[in-house]
Amino acid sequence: MNESPNKESAIRHPPSASGSSAIAEVAVAFHHVSLHIQGKALVEDLNFTIRRGETLVLLGRSGSGKTTTLKLINRLLEPTDGKVVVEETATTAWHAITLRRRIGYVIQETGLFPHFTVERNVALVPTLEGWPVARTGARVQELLALVGLDPSVFARRFPQELSGGQRQRVGVARALAADPPLLLMDEPFGALDPLTRAELQNEFAALSKRLNKTIVFVTHDIREAFKLASRIGLFQDGRLVELCEPAAFRRSTHQEAQAFLATLNDES
Ligand SMILES: Nc1ncnc2c1ncn2[C@@H]1O[C@H](COP(=O)(O)OP(=O)(O)O)[C@@H](O)[C@H]1O
Ligand SMILES: [Mg+2]
Repeated sequence: MNESPNKESAIRHPPSASGSSAIAEVAVAFHHVSLHIQGKALVEDLNFTIRRGETLVLLGRSGSGKTTTLKLINRLLEPTDGKVVVEETATTAWHAITLRRRIGYVIQETGLFPHFTVERNVALVPTLEGWPVARTGARVQELLALVGLDPSVFARRFPQELSGGQRQRVGVARALAADPPLLLMDEPFGALDPLTRAELQNEFAALSKRLNKTIVFVTHDIREAFKLASRIGLFQDGRLVELCEPAAFRRSTHQEAQAFLATLNDES
């Protein structure tokens, strides 16, 4: 795997410190990161780390800066202040394509190519990486089975021949295809009916424990956060206002946390 940073941009940031075991446990670090567009702060002074192997759930109401934060990790956006460090290298020093191939990305509307079969969609990154055809084929079979889709039934179908839940499963399989160490998921189950959503949440909770990956999962649903999170980060108006384990989050006295916690009692 080529991890050498793009030379042109590498000079903009000093190399990060390395060598301590604490750093080896950090997958992603935000160092006082802000992003301002036309005078408006999308995120403001984000300063936190994401630990290797954890499932960090970013919770917040619509417009609070969750998606922006994910896009800062895979360099779809760049900070206007501070820096985001992925595997000890600032995102701006990574070659963007190399970085993104190490990061699986699942979004609500999956972004599957409609004119590609399920199998071609899942094979996308391995194919771009030049894997041998047989290895790619075996990987596709393995992944479809992993996400609960029988390859003999689904491999040759097109996305429009699937239900919403099945498409999201394909999206997850595709994100995992090249075995990236980091997975970003932006409200991946948000558009599904409640029963399918609960089913996928439960399956994904079990799967994520086996995968041993660093996962950053965005949601506005506190129940989903409690189901999946090893830690919960709460966003409000572009700021990270709380970051702790679920048990501590239940006891949080922050007013935005309390507002979310109150919704747990709204429905049965
Ligand atoms: N390209 C952009 N230009 C200007 N404002 C944006 C842009 N993208 C998002 N925003 C604004 O930034 C804020 C944070 O957006 P976002 O990160 O998408 O929130 P969330 O994912 O939590 O709903 C919102 O107020 C949104 O309207
Ligand atoms: Mg969003």
